[in-house]
Amino acid sequence: MRKNIVAGNWKMNNDVKETKALLKELKKGLKKIPLKNTKVIVAPTFVNLGVAVAETKKSKIKVASQNMHAAKNGAYTGEISADMLKSIKVKTVILGHSERRAYFGETDAVLKEKVDSALAQNMKIIFCFGEELNDRKEKNHFNLVENQIKNALFHLPETDWKKIVLAYEPVWAIGTGETATPEQAQEMHAFIRKTVTDKYTSEIAENVSILYGGSVKPANAKEIFSNTDVDGGLIGGAALKAADFLAIIASI
Ligand code: PGA
Repeated sequence: MRKNIVAGNWKMNNDVKETKALLKELKKGLKKIPLKNTKVIVAPTFVNLGVAVAETKKSKIKVASQNMHAAKNGAYTGEISADMLKSIKVKTVILGHSERRAYFGETDAVLKEKVDSALAQNMKIIFCFGEELNDRKEKNHFNLVENQIKNALFHLPETDWKKIVLAYEPVWAIGTGETATPEQAQEMHAFIRKTVTDKYTSEIAENVSILYGGSVKPANAKEIFSNTDVDGGLIGGAALKAADFLAIIASI
């Protein structure tokens, strides 16, 4: 059975003090929330990953990185490799976030390399994709999403899909306060599952968690998560406040 996942993408927020404080509050709050089939993940910035790993050691919170470089090591100033993440016990990486695609030029081809590198290190991947508003207006959103998944993931053997989580994040809903309606989310998530079924098997498609991301907050989380094909969320802004993130986790 696929897992529900609530992941907080902290983006470029929280210094070391704030990281510790937020994690302390989350740990405390999580003691009161029954996490049946639900995984909780936080993704702080690179500099705070080590602190976050130490802080969450005896808790139910897992720590993910927001990015990594595809190369094993070498002359890539300012970059971090999968091996380095593994060496501090970070075993999950977010790849393909729309901000990485838009501001740092990450193409499907670059992402494919990163996917392969992460999997070679036996890391889990939260793979993000999603359309811009224009794509939706032009009714090109299904096509675009299909290609984003295909170009970075469809070369993988079936066995690797155990390590993949998909995150549908319509760009027009990220940080804008706009959210896809539950119907829009369900429609796209069902399409994604069908795309995976058509390429692989229904078993693989049924077992892959598909998260929704884009202005999820306590007020709309329950409605979004109640859709059959929505298995949780990737949360930005609302993951920075313990009370909000906890309320979102509790609503799944
Ligand atoms: P948001 O961000 O919740 O602030 O819209 C989501 C994301 O970028 O993952």
